[in-house]
Amino acid sequence: MYKTIRPLLFKLPTETSHHLTLQALQLAGAIAPIRWVLARAFYAPPKPVQAFGLTFQNPVGLAAGYDKDGVAITGLATLGFGHLEIGTVTPRPQAGNPQPRLFRLVEDEGVINRLGFPGKGADFLAARLTKRPRGVVLGVNLGKNKDTPLENASDDYITLLRRFTPLADYLTINISSPNTVGLRRLQGREMLESLLGAIARERHSMSLGRAGRVPILVKLAPDLSDEELDDAVGVILATQMDGIIATNTTLAREGLKSAHRVETGGLSGKPLTGLSDLVLSKVVNRVNGKIPIVGVGGITHPDDAKRKLDLGATLVQVYSGMVYAGPALVKQIVRKI
Ligand code: FNR
Repeated sequence: MYKTIRPLLFKLPTETSHHLTLQALQLAGAIAPIRWVLARAFYAPPKPVQAFGLTFQNPVGLAAGYDKDGVAITGLATLGFGHLEIGTVTPRPQAGNPQPRLFRLVEDEGVINRLGFPGKGADFLAARLTKRPRGVVLGVNLGKNKDTPLENASDDYITLLRRFTPLADYLTINISSPNTVGLRRLQGREMLESLLGAIARERHSMSLGRAGRVPILVKLAPDLSDEELDDAVGVILATQMDGIIATNTTLAREGLKSAHRVETGGLSGKPLTGLSDLVLSKVVNRVNGKIPIVGVGGITHPDDAKRKLDLGATLVQVYSGMVYAGPALVKQIVRKI
């Protein structure tokens, strides 16, 4: 089915086809008989996993960035995922970078994006999350607004932490997108200590109230040096965060054939597989079983997901692979593992 639709989608500008598929999923999610048909077509057998105190129906999740505003959660929940990561959400709405800002690298099975967190903001997403489907774990990925100075970044993350603790099953601190100027500097030891320290204190004070202790994951870039990775993992463990997502998109450009390889932004999909696997194994090594790791980056085939789990990931996420293989990739992965 996807093989028939794909050539049509690929004729459109990348961002247009993204919006079309998101709208189709939104519509499908609103109509009960279509939901039922999709849920049957994309059924994935239960392979439960426990992590961060949560039960996932299976280890495969949707990576952040696909549904930034939570408009298609019900439709996405029919596609066989064990979890959906919504966002990145920023406190206030923002437009993101000028278009074009999303490119398919078809010959390489990759994607380059420099979206820059376009989104409708926290109020909009919070309203969407009040009615959410059951049975699928829902994470919300948090980022700072472009115009929030880096030294005040923790204000944005704390605002979002307060807002989404009662609405999400877990939260992700995104400090690794390459398209918000300076964001990745938050992965450095001092800034990370200050940011995650503030987040940990706020979570502690909130858990004394009614909201409960929400699991917090930190998403890392694949472009950190070994020393930077040592520092980041050290701070994440010291501040008692619950998990690490490895990895976000890369700024590296090696061995690409497509004309769009010259575009600025984060590269994902097949060209990211090797680098992301390498960073995953380095993170697994450093974490030494203390917290679960989510492996993401370049899963384009069930074997890629299986390898990440064998390397030590507890969960995996996909995004770009679905652009090329379609949503059936999810159930194919679940069956394989
Ligand atoms: C992303 N990704 C992403 N990550 C994140 O934490 N917040 C975000 O808003 C986005 N936005 C986004 C948009 C687009 C168009 C793409 C392709 C990717 C990164 C994504 O979650 C994932 O970490 C990487 O894409 C690597 O996985 P794949 O795509 O190779 O499976």
